[in-house]
Order: sequence, then structure tokens, then C-alpha cells
Amino acid sequence: MSDAYLKLAKLTLAYGDTVAVKDLDLGIGKGELVALLGPSGCGKTTTMRAIAGLLTPASGRIGLDGADITRVSANKRAVGLVFQSYALFPHLTVYENVAFGLRLKSISGADLEARVGAGLKSVGLTAFAGRKPAELSGGQQQRVALARSMVMEPKVLLLDEPLSNLDARLRLEMRAELQRVQKETGVTMIFVTHDQVEALALADRIVVMLNGGIEQIGTPEEIYNNPASAFVADFVGFENVFALKDGKLTTPNGPVALSGAAPDSAAGLAWRPRAVILGSGQFHGTVRGTSFAGNTREYLLDTPLGPIKAEIDAGLPPHDIGSALAFDLPVAGAANLKRFG
Ligand SMILES: Nc1ncnc2c1ncn2[C@@H]1O[C@H](COP(=O)(O)OP(=O)(O)O)[C@@H](O)[C@H]1O
Ligand SMILES: [Mg+2]
Repeated sequence: MSDAYLKLAKLTLAYGDTVAVKDLDLGIGKGELVALLGPSGCGKTTTMRAIAGLLTPASGRIGLDGADITRVSANKRAVGLVFQSYALFPHLTVYENVAFGLRLKSISGADLEARVGAGLKSVGLTAFAGRKPAELSGGQQQRVALARSMVMEPKVLLLDEPLSNLDARLRLEMRAELQRVQKETGVTMIFVTHDQVEALALADRIVVMLNGGIEQIGTPEEIYNNPASAFVADFVGFENVFALKDGKLTTPNGPVALSGAAPDSAAGLAWRPRAVILGSGQFHGTVRGTSFAGNTREYLLDTPLGPIKAEIDAGLPPHDIGSALAFDLPVAGAANLKRFG
């Protein structure tokens, strides 16, 4: 962390008396693609604004490429920022939108042409250089915004929910595009999203935020398979999340023992719906709801442990609503939560 390319140290960010981010410590390596993931209001945008220099920290420091930039003004930081609303200049062509920041830096002539040309090429918009933003699709406009930032050769590129205005298909396309541009250019990128699927698909590392702090930092695999807390487990789709006390599950009807021994170190256990064994086991429930999900069928059970979500192969015989079913929560199929709550 001490030699991180971008380093946030004990960063506290506030709007007047409202503390939005508290004592945030985060180190990001050069060339890394990091996702900030968390629910609305957890402090993602606030953190980005501070890195970009648009918000002065109440306390703490920001380091970039060996320099302390905490007090460096936004336009001298070499940090690019792409927002959800692309804010392109409507009266300028694609070419001039991309050239805008370079012209402000008195770059002109062949140098300008080469950099704008490379920028447009990297996002596949060479043929659209002469168009106005209104003559482009949402995805193309997003690419212009990306190229406009990239040509400035930022040390860090910040993207704040850049895909949330796009429809599902375009979002997938742009996701791949972002990943490609990032890998090709090697630019250090921080990507904000409240969509866990997007974060898992894109990032080298994910920072899960909650209430202005960090819940967990890890690779997509770590976050997906080994959530550290009940919040992260819930956020990445575990659905069946229990606190553990004296080796027993905490349920609405009191402590419940499992068939296997729960690990001593765990504060909670969590099962994905597909880790629940349906049709046999020590527990019993009643089918309250069922939904077909293509390859699988999902069941919602009313049980003494509370509601349980299970998912089984759609090829298996369906269970009717109201039918009684045995089920099990195998310890081996659970994620061990280090923290609960
Ligand atoms: N301009 C502002 N003035 C006061 N409070 C703000 C302002 N912007 C954001 N906040 C508050 O700071 C917290 C974090 O907001 P934000 O960083 O925008 O969250 P996120 O981007 O994760 O949705 C929220 O509680 C929000 O209400
Ligand atoms: Mg935000």
C-alpha cells in the first residue's frame, strides 16, 4: 500500500457537517482496473470527486505517482473523469469534442490531429469524426466521452456509473469496450457502479463500500465466493444469510444446529440458492413461490429458519406451491462470513 500508484490515506470527506466518507484507506496499483461497488449513497461519487480534486478532503491525504496531490487543483492532477451524463458539447463535432481539452492545453497541428485520431480510433469512432453528438447513439456518445478523457493521457481515469444510461445490450458492449481500451492503454481506471454483475465482469479488484467506508476489497472471485460480511454476501446474491452463535444458526425461532460442524471463526454462514439441497435433509419447509429461470427453477420456501431461497435444475420435476419439502443447508456449501452486520 505504501508504494501504491494512487493512495488514499485516512480520507474523510464531508459536505458541511455531513460526513459522507470516513477514514478511507485504499491503495491502487498502476494499470489496475478497480471497481467501487456499493448501494446508492455509500460515498462512491464523493470519493471520485475527491480524487479528481473537485472536493477538498476534511482530513487525510491523496497520493498519485509518488506525489501528494491532496491540495493540487483539479486541472493539474492528470486525473480524467467520465460521468454518467456525457456532457458533450452539442454544437461541436465528435472530432472537436475530443480535441477540446487538448486545444485548451495549446496542442495543435499534426500533434493534435495524431492524438485525436488515435483517440477516435481506440473507441472505434474514426468514421464518425464529423458528426454532432445528436447524430450519435447513446453508446457512441459514451465512447466520445471516453475518447475525450483518454486523449488527455490521464494518470488515472475515473468513470462514475458510465454505463447506467445505456440499455442492457449496449451496456454489455460498452463493458467489453472499456475493458479493451483499459488493457490496451494500461491506464489506471476506477470504475463506479452499483451493479455487482458489472463490477464482477470488469474489475481486476473490487472495493465494496457501505456507509462511507470499505466493507471488503478483493478480486471478483474473492468477493463472489468469499464475502467477508453479511452485507457483501447479500449484495452478491447469497440470499440465505445467517448469523452464527455457538456454532448454531440464529433464526426467528431461536438457535438451530446444522448437520455438520460450523467453523469456529465464522460470525455467519451464507448459502447461494443453488447451494441449498432441496428434496432431502433435516429441515422442512413449504413452497411459497416458484419461478422458472431458464436452466434452473427457483423456489421460495417458508421455513422455521425464515424464508429460504433454493434453485435447482429446471429439468427436475417441479414442486407445486403449498407442497411440503425437505431441505438441507450443507456447511460445506456455505460461505464463512468473518463479520456479521
Ligand atoms: N452536495 C452534497 N451535499 C450534501 N450531502 C451530499 C452531497 N452529495 C452527496 N451527499 C451525501 O453524501 C453521501 C454519499 O453520496 P454519494 O457519494 O453521492 O453516494 P453514491 O455515489 O455512492 O451514491 C450521501 O449520504 C449523500 O446524501
Ligand atoms: Mg454516485
